[in-house]
Amino acid sequence: MNDTEKSIAPILTVRGLKKSFHSGRKVIEVLHGVNLNLHAGELTLLMGPSGSGKSTFLAAISGLQRPDEGQIMYRSNDIWENDTKGIDRYRLRNCGFIFQSVHLVNCLTARQQVIFLQEQAGIEPDKALKRADQAIEEVGLTSRAHLMPSELSGGEQQRVAIARTLAMRPKLIFADEPTSSLDSITGRRIVELLQIAARRHGAMVLCVTHDERIRDVADRIINIEDGNIFEATKHVE
Ligand SMILES: Nc1ncnc2c1ncn2[C@@H]1O[C@H](COP(=O)(O)OP(=O)(O)O)[C@@H](O)[C@H]1O
Ligand SMILES: [Mg+2]
Repeated sequence: MNDTEKSIAPILTVRGLKKSFHSGRKVIEVLHGVNLNLHAGELTLLMGPSGSGKSTFLAAISGLQRPDEGQIMYRSNDIWENDTKGIDRYRLRNCGFIFQSVHLVNCLTARQQVIFLQEQAGIEPDKALKRADQAIEEVGLTSRAHLMPSELSGGEQQRVAIARTLAMRPKLIFADEPTSSLDSITGRRIVELLQIAARRHGAMVLCVTHDERIRDVADRIINIEDGNIFEATKHVE
């Protein structure tokens, strides 16, 4: 495999993904056998109306919720073929998460939040500090890093959560509706940060959203409708 082939090979390959939920005696199939290739260095938006299966899809490919059928290949391994420990390892080592509701620790400053998660993951203190300061700078919060969550706006809190994720240097970043509680300018800024994570750090970033305001920031847009996925636009180079 030469370098060009390597760079276009998908980092995550999804094949035949199916997931149903039981509601009383009814079975609702949410994903009908979804196929998708996801690439490093790209910000992909997965768009679809509420209830279309976006979060279910994200949970299955990030090792949060087991699908009924299908393969999710990461580095030639089907993640769901692993035992529970192996799935936890996949998630903890490779995946970063950003959700709509930001869960910060009330008694830690912005900077301490970003250091804390790294310490939990066993990253040495010196390295954790350096990475934290770099990530905080990337999200534009250096001058606010000493503040507590209660002193930060919603958008700033979301940026702390992104810095916390970026500092872990995940290869795969999953964002579920990260902009829906933000105004459009703040929301756009958040998605631009996700784009930086893809471009500068080479991460695969999948952002699940029904926020039409952020379409033009994406490298690629995928639609999900009735449990199937289709490409909405060509790749933007
Ligand atoms: N744990 C669950 N139990 C039962 N039904 C669920 C569960 N999770 C999701 N669903 C159903 O699956 C469908 C898709 O949900 P979801 O993936 O959350 O959609 P989206 O993120 O696009 O809004 C919805 O009809 C939802 O009610
Ligand atoms: Mg959802």
